[in-house]
Amino acid sequence: MDAECAEAPSVGGDGLVLRMMRAGDVPQVMAIERASFEAGWPATAFERELSQNQMARYIVAERPGADGAARSLAGFAGLWLMLDEAHVVTVAVLPHLRGRGIGRLLVHGLIELARDSAMTVATLECRISNAVARQLYAGYGFYEVGVRKRYYSDNQEDAVIMTTEELASPAYEQRLARLATHLQAMIPGVKLYAES
Ligand SMILES: CC(C)(COP(=O)(O)OP(=O)(O)OC[C@H]1O[C@@H](n2cnc3c(N)ncnc32)[C@H](O)[C@@H]1OP(=O)(O)O)[C@@H](O)C(=O)NCCC(=O)NCCS
Repeated sequence: MDAECAEAPSVGGDGLVLRMMRAGDVPQVMAIERASFEAGWPATAFERELSQNQMARYIVAERPGADGAARSLAGFAGLWLMLDEAHVVTVAVLPHLRGRGIGRLLVHGLIELARDSAMTVATLECRISNAVARQLYAGYGFYEVGVRKRYYSDNQEDAVIMTTEELASPAYEQRLARLATHLQAMIPGVKLYAES
């Protein structure tokens, strides 16, 4: 185990929650954004999304601080509600907290938000080289339906287009229930639903 991991506070215990993102979260969101994406968004983009984009829904995964320190953000994710389709805009987790189920937790929260908003399916685009994200999304029932050639302007990389089956279908409901059980086992005490 490297020094960074050894010092990282555990997120496997009580207290990890999902809640809606607030304007005051943007500085911490920016730290995660900068650590996660080479061509990330500026703070003004998040501020605009939160204050002006009626379609946008952003959530954060927040963990308790160690020894009475303030709670802090482990990751965030966003969705656009487009007619009857929920479009996943972003998911990111602090690098030293990855591989512990927080990415799953965030995608779970987005899917629950989409279902609560009566969206029929969820869709997204993902860099073709991003095997970890593609695997994460596949676990949530996203399957690949096409490729957008040279979609990313920074390096001309192709995007894979992914979509779910109907979110209200019995098969998807069963998948989500299975995933919820798995998440609860992975992160005991976690709250799976985003609160305001
Ligand atoms: C993608 C990302 C959000 C995943 O977050 P995470 O907290 O590490 O994800 P989880 O621990 O919940 O893992 C979820 C799944 O991702 C996959 N995964 C995670 N780490 C992986 C790794 N090192 N290698 C391969 N697959 C991996 C696995 O399928 C895993 O499911 P499993 O636990 O059943 O094996 C995180 O890697 C990240 O922030 N990356 C940078 C930003 C980004 O690329 N976002 C996606 C944009 S489309």
